[in-house]
Amino acid sequence: MFESDLSAEVISKGLGTEFIGKNIIYLPVCGSTMDIARDEAKRDAPEGTVVIADEQTQGRGRIKRAWLTPKGSSIAMSVILRPDITTLSSLIMVASLGVAGGIRQLTGLSPQIKWPNDVLIKGKKVSGILIENGFRGSAVDYAVIGIGVNVNLELSCFPEISGIATSLSDETGKAVSRSGVVWGILAEMEKRYLSLEGENTVFEDWRDNLITLGRKVRVTSGVSSGGTAQDGVAESVERDGSLLLRRPDGSLERIIAEDVTLRE
Ligand code: BTN
Repeated sequence: MFESDLSAEVISKGLGTEFIGKNIIYLPVCGSTMDIARDEAKRDAPEGTVVIADEQTQGRGRIKRAWLTPKGSSIAMSVILRPDITTLSSLIMVASLGVAGGIRQLTGLSPQIKWPNDVLIKGKKVSGILIENGFRGSAVDYAVIGIGVNVNLELSCFPEISGIATSLSDETGKAVSRSGVVWGILAEMEKRYLSLEGENTVFEDWRDNLITLGRKVRVTSGVSSGGTAQDGVAESVERDGSLLLRRPDGSLERIIAEDVTLRE
């Protein structure tokens, strides 16, 4: 019988983590792993549960964008965490550092992070991260971290995104092990997540890996309803993950969750 290289058995075998991925739900196909993970989280699934699919038919990204996950060539997974409210805003940093670190270790490529949490290689997007949270009163019940990675996607077959996206196989010139990428990402993420309990360098490492800072950018708000754009220079980031934009008139604006395009 064909065993997918993303099946729970395969992933479990090579995973060197303490708790992330101890419970794996593998689906050959689903709408979105975000929905499955959210339902599992509401049903008290343990922290660290990973929902992973070989194909998504309704994959979604930030700002209501669609996310492409064709069968057999990508990673689409959602990780359930149960962070404290004080560490919630660090999850974008934990996740993007985890993805960048995992890719770097396995492939030797040099991924960079575009604010807030896109992972790029040579300026093209290789991974996107989507975080959705659930609350019980004012406490965090769960956070679902959705990670999509273009692993063996041949971008020349997708001309609609080939100008802005890349894949690990396109960058390395050879097929890349999807399970290897999953092991690397989950191990890096867990290390970063656990470090939040004590003194750590998560914010500093994330900030130092951002290609956005010091660059001219365009910030687009309300993308799904037409959108308004403003230009400026991405000056710095704050510990809560927000971006400080220096406008042409000299004023400073704090940007929380908009779309940012690098301009040159
Ligand atoms: C983005 O860049 O806009 C975020 C993309 C997030 C995609 C991942 S794939 C796994 C999980 N399931 C989804 O439907 N979305 C996330």
